Amino acid sequence: MKLTTQSQLARTPTAEAIETYYASMRRFWHPVLPSEQLVDGKPSSVELLEEPLVIVRLNGDLVIMEDICRHFQAQLSLGEIREIPGSGECLMCPYHGWTYAEDGQCVDIPQLSAGREIPSSARVPTFHIQERYGLIWVCLDPNPAFHLPDLPHLDDGTYQIGPLRTYAPWIASAPRVIMAALDDTHGPWVHPGLVGNRSHPLPPEHRVWREGQYLKVEIIMTQPNNATIAESNDDSAVREVAITTTVGIPNTIHFDIRATDSSDGRHTLIWQAVCPQRWNSTLTFWGSARNYDHDKPAYDVDFEALQDTLREQDRRIVESQRPWLLPPFWTKIELPLRPADLPLIEYQSWLDELGITTAV
Ligand code: FES
Ligand SMILES: [Fe+2]
Repeated sequence: MKLTTQSQLARTPTAEAIETYYASMRRFWHPVLPSEQLVDGKPSSVELLEEPLVIVRLNGDLVIMEDICRHFQAQLSLGEIREIPGSGECLMCPYHGWTYAEDGQCVDIPQLSAGREIPSSARVPTFHIQERYGLIWVCLDPNPAFHLPDLPHLDDGTYQIGPLRTYAPWIASAPRVIMAALDDTHGPWVHPGLVGNRSHPLPPEHRVWREGQYLKVEIIMTQPNNATIAESNDDSAVREVAITTTVGIPNTIHFDIRATDSSDGRHTLIWQAVCPQRWNSTLTFWGSARNYDHDKPAYDVDFEALQDTLREQDRRIVESQRPWLLPPFWTKIELPLRPADLPLIEYQSWLDELGITTAV
Protein backbone atom coordinates (compact mmCIF):
# COMPACT_ATOMS: atom_id res chain seq x y z
CA MET A 1 0.00 0.00 0.00
CA LYS A 2 1.32 3.44 -0.86
CA LEU A 3 0.76 6.15 1.70
CA THR A 4 -0.31 9.32 0.01
CA THR A 5 -1.55 11.83 2.52
CA GLN A 6 -0.15 13.19 5.74
CA SER A 7 -3.19 11.99 7.68
CA GLN A 8 -2.68 8.44 6.43
CA LEU A 9 0.76 8.50 8.02
CA ALA A 10 -0.82 8.68 11.46
CA ARG A 11 -2.66 5.40 11.03
CA THR A 12 -1.77 2.23 12.83
CA PRO A 13 0.59 0.18 10.64
CA THR A 14 -0.95 -2.68 8.71
CA ALA A 15 -0.67 -6.16 10.21
CA GLU A 16 1.65 -7.00 7.31
CA ALA A 17 3.98 -4.06 8.05
CA ILE A 18 4.15 -5.04 11.72
CA GLU A 19 4.87 -8.69 10.91
CA THR A 20 7.62 -7.69 8.47
CA TYR A 21 9.13 -5.41 11.10
CA TYR A 22 9.08 -8.20 13.69
CA ALA A 23 10.53 -10.76 11.27
CA SER A 24 13.39 -8.40 10.39
CA MET A 25 14.17 -7.60 14.04
CA ARG A 26 14.17 -11.23 15.23
CA ARG A 27 17.64 -11.74 13.77
CA PHE A 28 19.32 -9.37 16.26
CA TRP A 29 20.28 -9.54 19.92
CA HIS A 30 17.99 -7.40 22.05
CA PRO A 31 18.36 -6.43 25.70
CA VAL A 32 15.28 -7.50 27.65
CA LEU A 33 15.97 -7.30 31.39
CA PRO A 34 18.62 -6.06 33.84
CA SER A 35 20.36 -9.14 35.30
CA GLU A 36 19.72 -7.94 38.83
CA GLN A 37 15.97 -8.06 38.25
CA LEU A 38 16.10 -11.81 37.71
CA VAL A 39 15.60 -13.13 41.21
CA ASP A 40 17.20 -16.49 41.98
CA GLY A 41 14.65 -19.27 42.14
CA LYS A 42 11.94 -17.26 40.38
CA PRO A 43 10.97 -16.98 36.70
CA SER A 44 10.56 -13.53 35.13
CA SER A 45 8.29 -12.65 32.21
CA VAL A 46 9.49 -10.32 29.45
CA GLU A 47 8.11 -9.32 26.07
CA LEU A 48 10.16 -9.03 22.88
CA LEU A 49 8.61 -8.28 19.48
CA GLU A 50 5.26 -9.19 21.01
CA GLU A 51 6.50 -12.66 21.99
CA PRO A 52 5.75 -13.50 25.62
CA LEU A 53 8.92 -15.02 27.08
CA VAL A 54 9.98 -16.44 30.41
CA ILE A 55 13.53 -16.15 31.73
CA VAL A 56 14.72 -18.38 34.54
CA ARG A 57 17.99 -19.75 35.94
CA LEU A 58 17.94 -23.54 35.94
CA ASN A 59 20.92 -25.53 37.22
CA GLY A 60 23.03 -22.37 37.02
CA ASP A 61 22.16 -21.76 33.36
CA LEU A 62 20.21 -18.84 32.04
CA VAL A 63 17.22 -20.18 30.10
CA ILE A 64 14.59 -18.48 27.97
CA MET A 65 11.41 -20.13 26.73
CA GLU A 66 8.17 -19.09 25.21
CA ASP A 67 5.98 -18.08 28.14
CA ILE A 68 3.09 -20.31 27.03
CA CYS A 69 2.52 -23.82 28.34
CA ARG A 70 2.05 -26.43 25.61
CA HIS A 71 -0.89 -27.99 27.49
CA PHE A 72 -3.55 -25.30 27.82
CA GLN A 73 -1.37 -22.23 27.23
CA ALA A 74 -1.11 -20.89 30.77
CA GLN A 75 1.77 -18.51 31.53
CA LEU A 76 4.83 -20.47 32.65
CA SER A 77 6.30 -17.40 34.35
CA LEU A 78 3.55 -17.77 36.98
CA GLY A 79 4.95 -21.19 37.80
CA GLU A 80 7.83 -22.36 39.93
CA ILE A 81 11.12 -24.19 39.81
CA ARG A 82 10.98 -27.87 40.63
CA GLU A 83 13.59 -30.63 40.78
CA ILE A 84 13.02 -33.61 38.47
CA PRO A 85 15.32 -36.65 38.85
CA GLY A 86 17.58 -36.88 35.80
CA SER A 87 16.76 -33.35 34.60
CA GLY A 88 17.68 -31.23 37.63
CA GLU A 89 15.93 -27.92 38.09
CA CYS A 90 12.98 -27.50 35.72
CA LEU A 91 10.17 -24.98 35.26
CA MET A 92 6.69 -26.12 36.34
CA CYS A 93 3.49 -24.69 34.89
CA PRO A 94 1.18 -23.25 37.55
CA TYR A 95 -1.99 -24.80 36.04
CA HIS A 96 -1.58 -28.61 36.00
CA GLY A 97 2.08 -29.01 36.85
CA TRP A 98 3.54 -29.95 33.47
CA THR A 99 7.25 -29.41 33.96
CA TYR A 100 9.83 -28.35 31.36
CA ALA A 101 13.58 -28.97 31.33
CA GLU A 102 16.18 -26.41 30.22
CA ASP A 103 15.83 -27.43 26.58
CA GLY A 104 12.06 -26.80 26.63
CA GLN A 105 11.11 -30.48 26.61
CA CYS A 106 8.34 -31.46 29.01
CA VAL A 107 9.80 -34.04 31.42
CA ASP A 108 6.92 -34.54 33.81
CA ILE A 109 3.13 -34.65 33.42
CA PRO A 110 1.58 -35.42 36.81
CA GLN A 111 -1.71 -36.64 35.24
CA LEU A 112 -0.05 -39.15 32.88
CA SER A 113 -1.59 -42.64 33.14
CA ALA A 114 0.74 -45.49 34.00
CA GLY A 115 2.50 -46.83 30.92
CA ARG A 116 1.88 -43.70 28.82
CA GLU A 117 4.85 -41.74 27.46
CA ILE A 118 5.22 -37.95 27.51
CA PRO A 119 4.55 -36.90 23.89
CA SER A 120 7.65 -35.51 22.18
CA SER A 121 5.52 -32.59 20.98
CA ALA A 122 5.10 -31.54 24.62
CA ARG A 123 7.82 -28.93 24.38
CA VAL A 124 8.09 -25.16 24.30
CA PRO A 125 10.49 -23.20 22.07
CA THR A 126 13.72 -21.94 23.63
CA PHE A 127 15.97 -19.16 22.31
CA HIS A 128 19.53 -17.78 22.46
CA ILE A 129 20.28 -15.87 25.65
CA GLN A 130 23.40 -14.12 27.06
CA GLU A 131 24.32 -11.73 29.86
CA ARG A 132 26.57 -8.70 29.37
CA TYR A 133 26.83 -5.12 30.69
CA GLY A 134 24.40 -6.00 33.48
CA LEU A 135 21.72 -6.89 30.95
CA ILE A 136 20.13 -10.07 29.69
CA TRP A 137 20.10 -10.21 25.88
CA VAL A 138 17.95 -12.44 23.69
CA CYS A 139 17.92 -13.39 20.01
CA LEU A 140 14.77 -15.07 18.74
CA ASP A 141 16.36 -16.39 15.53
CA PRO A 142 18.48 -19.57 15.59
CA ASN A 143 21.06 -17.74 13.42
CA PRO A 144 21.72 -14.22 14.74
CA ALA A 145 22.63 -11.76 11.97
CA PHE A 146 25.25 -10.07 14.16
CA HIS A 147 27.16 -10.77 17.37
CA LEU A 148 25.97 -9.37 20.64
CA PRO A 149 26.87 -5.67 20.27
CA ASP A 150 30.00 -4.29 21.94
CA LEU A 151 29.67 -1.21 24.10
CA PRO A 152 33.26 0.10 24.08
CA HIS A 153 35.18 0.40 27.39
CA LEU A 154 32.31 -0.71 29.62
CA ASP A 155 34.15 -3.81 30.71
CA ASP A 156 37.80 -2.79 30.40
CA GLY A 157 38.15 -1.98 34.12
CA THR A 158 39.57 1.54 33.81
CA TYR A 159 36.18 3.24 33.83
CA GLN A 160 33.98 4.07 36.77
CA ILE A 161 30.64 2.58 35.70
CA GLY A 162 27.49 4.53 36.53
CA PRO A 163 24.18 2.95 37.45
CA LEU A 164 22.18 1.00 34.89
CA ARG A 165 18.91 2.84 34.41
CA THR A 166 15.70 1.52 32.88
CA TYR A 167 13.28 3.99 31.37
CA ALA A 168 9.61 3.08 31.22
CA PRO A 169 8.53 2.13 27.70
CA TRP A 170 8.15 4.92 25.19
CA ILE A 171 5.14 4.64 22.94
CA ALA A 172 7.33 4.51 19.85
CA SER A 173 9.20 2.06 17.65
CA ALA A 174 12.78 1.14 18.57
CA PRO A 175 14.59 2.69 15.57
CA ARG A 176 12.97 6.04 16.29
CA VAL A 177 14.32 5.93 19.84
CA ILE A 178 17.85 5.23 18.58
CA MET A 179 17.50 7.99 15.98
CA ALA A 180 16.59 10.52 18.66
CA ALA A 181 19.92 9.78 20.32
CA LEU A 182 21.82 9.83 17.02
CA ASP A 183 20.24 13.09 15.85
CA ASP A 184 22.67 15.90 16.68
CA THR A 185 20.73 18.86 15.31
CA HIS A 186 17.63 18.85 17.56
CA GLY A 187 19.47 19.94 20.70
CA PRO A 188 18.87 23.70 20.41
CA TRP A 189 15.11 23.11 20.01
CA VAL A 190 14.43 20.20 22.31
CA HIS A 191 17.16 20.70 24.91
CA PRO A 192 17.98 24.43 24.85
CA GLY A 193 20.60 25.32 27.43
CA LEU A 194 21.37 21.65 28.08
CA VAL A 195 22.77 20.15 24.88
CA GLY A 196 22.11 22.94 22.48
CA ASN A 197 22.08 26.61 22.02
CA ARG A 198 19.89 28.32 19.43
CA SER A 199 22.65 30.73 18.55
CA HIS A 200 24.59 27.67 17.29
CA PRO A 201 21.99 25.94 15.08
CA LEU A 202 24.33 24.72 12.34
CA PRO A 203 25.09 21.01 12.36
CA PRO A 204 28.56 19.75 13.16
CA GLU A 205 30.64 18.29 10.38
CA HIS A 206 30.19 14.55 10.39
CA ARG A 207 32.49 11.75 9.47
CA VAL A 208 30.28 8.67 9.07
CA TRP A 209 31.32 5.17 8.16
CA ARG A 210 30.47 1.50 8.64
CA GLU A 211 32.71 -0.80 10.61
CA GLY A 212 31.53 -4.40 10.77
CA GLN A 213 28.09 -4.34 12.38
CA TYR A 214 28.54 -0.76 13.61
CA LEU A 215 27.82 2.66 12.22
CA LYS A 216 30.49 5.09 13.43
CA VAL A 217 30.11 8.86 13.55
CA GLU A 218 32.70 11.44 14.53
CA ILE A 219 31.81 15.04 15.22
CA ILE A 220 33.08 18.10 17.00
CA MET A 221 30.30 20.25 18.39
CA THR A 222 29.59 23.12 20.72
CA GLN A 223 27.73 22.31 23.90
CA PRO A 224 26.91 24.08 27.12
CA ASN A 225 29.47 23.07 29.71
CA ASN A 226 27.15 21.02 31.82
CA ALA A 227 26.06 18.58 29.15
CA THR A 228 28.82 16.08 29.40
CA ILE A 229 30.61 16.78 32.61
CA ALA A 230 28.21 17.51 35.40
CA GLU A 231 30.40 19.87 37.32
CA SER A 232 29.07 23.18 36.17
CA ASN A 233 25.51 24.40 36.15
CA ASP A 234 26.51 27.49 34.23
CA ASP A 235 24.46 27.22 31.04
CA SER A 236 26.18 30.23 29.50
CA ALA A 237 29.58 28.55 29.41
CA VAL A 238 29.97 26.91 26.04
CA ARG A 239 32.65 24.41 25.19
CA GLU A 240 33.66 22.34 22.24
CA VAL A 241 33.50 18.59 22.56
CA ALA A 242 34.55 15.73 20.29
CA ILE A 243 32.12 12.84 20.19
CA THR A 244 32.65 9.40 18.72
CA THR A 245 29.36 7.58 18.32
CA THR A 246 29.08 3.85 17.81
CA VAL A 247 25.69 2.55 16.75
CA GLY A 248 25.25 -1.19 17.10
CA ILE A 249 22.79 -1.90 14.31
CA PRO A 250 19.92 -1.73 14.99
CA ASN A 251 19.44 -1.14 18.71
CA THR A 252 22.40 0.21 20.69
CA ILE A 253 24.15 3.58 20.71
CA HIS A 254 27.29 4.57 22.56
CA PHE A 255 28.89 8.00 22.84
CA ASP A 256 32.50 8.66 23.78
CA ILE A 257 32.73 12.35 24.69
CA ARG A 258 35.80 14.43 25.48
CA ALA A 259 36.58 18.13 25.56
CA THR A 260 38.69 19.34 22.64
CA ASP A 261 40.37 22.07 24.68
CA SER A 262 42.18 19.78 27.05
CA SER A 263 44.60 16.92 26.81
CA ASP A 264 43.70 15.44 30.18
CA GLY A 265 42.45 12.20 28.62
CA ARG A 266 39.07 12.48 30.32
CA HIS A 267 36.37 10.48 28.58
CA THR A 268 32.69 10.41 29.44
CA LEU A 269 30.68 7.54 27.99
CA ILE A 270 26.93 7.46 27.60
CA TRP A 271 25.09 4.51 26.08
CA GLN A 272 21.61 3.24 25.41
CA ALA A 273 20.32 -0.18 24.43
CA VAL A 274 16.68 -0.47 23.51
CA CYS A 275 14.23 -3.33 23.66
CA PRO A 276 11.46 -3.45 21.03
CA GLN A 277 8.77 -4.97 23.21
CA ARG A 278 6.23 -4.18 20.50
CA TRP A 279 6.15 -2.12 17.33
CA ASN A 280 4.99 0.86 19.41
CA SER A 281 6.54 0.12 22.79
CA THR A 282 10.26 0.46 23.42
CA LEU A 283 12.11 0.02 26.66
CA THR A 284 15.40 1.89 27.06
CA PHE A 285 18.32 0.75 29.18
CA TRP A 286 20.77 3.53 29.76
CA GLY A 287 24.14 3.85 31.38
CA SER A 288 27.23 6.02 31.67
CA ALA A 289 30.87 5.67 32.60
CA ARG A 290 33.91 7.89 33.10
CA ASN A 291 37.65 7.31 33.32
CA TYR A 292 38.25 10.06 35.90
CA ASP A 293 37.02 11.05 39.37
CA HIS A 294 37.26 7.47 40.56
CA ASP A 295 37.11 8.76 44.11
CA LYS A 296 33.64 10.21 43.56
CA PRO A 297 30.49 8.08 43.71
CA ALA A 298 29.47 6.34 40.47
CA TYR A 299 25.97 7.76 40.94
CA ASP A 300 26.22 11.48 40.31
CA VAL A 301 22.87 12.97 41.27
CA ASP A 302 23.15 16.05 39.04
CA PHE A 303 24.30 14.08 36.03
CA GLU A 304 21.54 11.49 36.38
CA ALA A 305 18.90 14.21 36.86
CA LEU A 306 20.13 15.98 33.74
CA GLN A 307 19.84 12.74 31.76
CA ASP A 308 16.30 12.20 33.05
CA THR A 309 15.36 15.70 31.87
CA LEU A 310 16.89 15.11 28.43
CA ARG A 311 15.11 11.75 28.03
CA GLU A 312 11.78 13.27 29.01
CA GLN A 313 12.26 16.13 26.54
CA ASP A 314 13.01 13.60 23.80
CA ARG A 315 10.15 11.28 24.72
CA ARG A 316 7.31 13.62 23.86
CA ILE A 317 8.82 14.38 20.47
CA VAL A 318 9.63 10.78 19.54
CA GLU A 319 6.19 9.59 20.63
CA SER A 320 4.68 12.17 18.27
CA GLN A 321 6.47 10.90 15.13
CA ARG A 322 4.48 9.25 12.36
CA PRO A 323 4.38 6.86 10.67
CA TRP A 324 4.99 4.68 13.69
CA LEU A 325 7.44 2.44 11.86
CA LEU A 326 10.26 3.96 9.84
CA PRO A 327 9.40 4.42 6.19
CA PRO A 328 11.83 3.25 3.50
CA PHE A 329 13.54 6.13 1.71
CA TRP A 330 11.91 5.35 -1.63
CA THR A 331 8.56 6.51 -0.24
CA LYS A 332 9.91 10.06 0.07
CA ILE A 333 7.74 10.44 3.17
CA GLU A 334 10.63 12.11 4.98
CA LEU A 335 12.80 14.96 3.78
CA PRO A 336 16.20 14.34 5.33
CA LEU A 337 18.63 17.15 4.73
CA ARG A 338 22.22 16.68 3.58
CA PRO A 339 24.73 17.07 5.11
CA ALA A 340 22.96 17.99 8.39
CA ASP A 341 21.16 14.65 8.77
CA LEU A 342 23.94 12.45 7.42
CA PRO A 343 24.20 10.08 10.44
CA LEU A 344 20.42 9.52 10.36
CA ILE A 345 20.46 8.98 6.60
CA GLU A 346 23.22 6.38 6.93
CA TYR A 347 21.47 4.61 9.85
CA GLN A 348 18.17 4.50 8.04
CA SER A 349 19.76 3.34 4.77
CA TRP A 350 21.25 0.42 6.64
CA LEU A 351 17.88 -0.44 8.17
CA ASP A 352 16.42 -0.23 4.66
CA GLU A 353 18.94 -2.86 3.53
CA LEU A 354 17.99 -5.06 6.47
CA GLY A 355 14.27 -4.79 5.74
CA ILE A 356 13.53 -3.04 9.06
CA THR A 357 11.88 0.02 7.47
CA THR A 358 8.42 -1.33 6.87
CA ALA A 359 5.99 1.54 7.34
CA VAL A 360 4.40 0.94 3.94
S1 FES B 1 -1.75 -25.33 31.10
FE1 FES B 1 0.19 -25.79 31.79
S2 FES B 1 -0.02 -27.65 32.74
FE2 FES B 1 -1.97 -27.28 31.97
FE1 LIG C 1 17.54 14.58 22.48
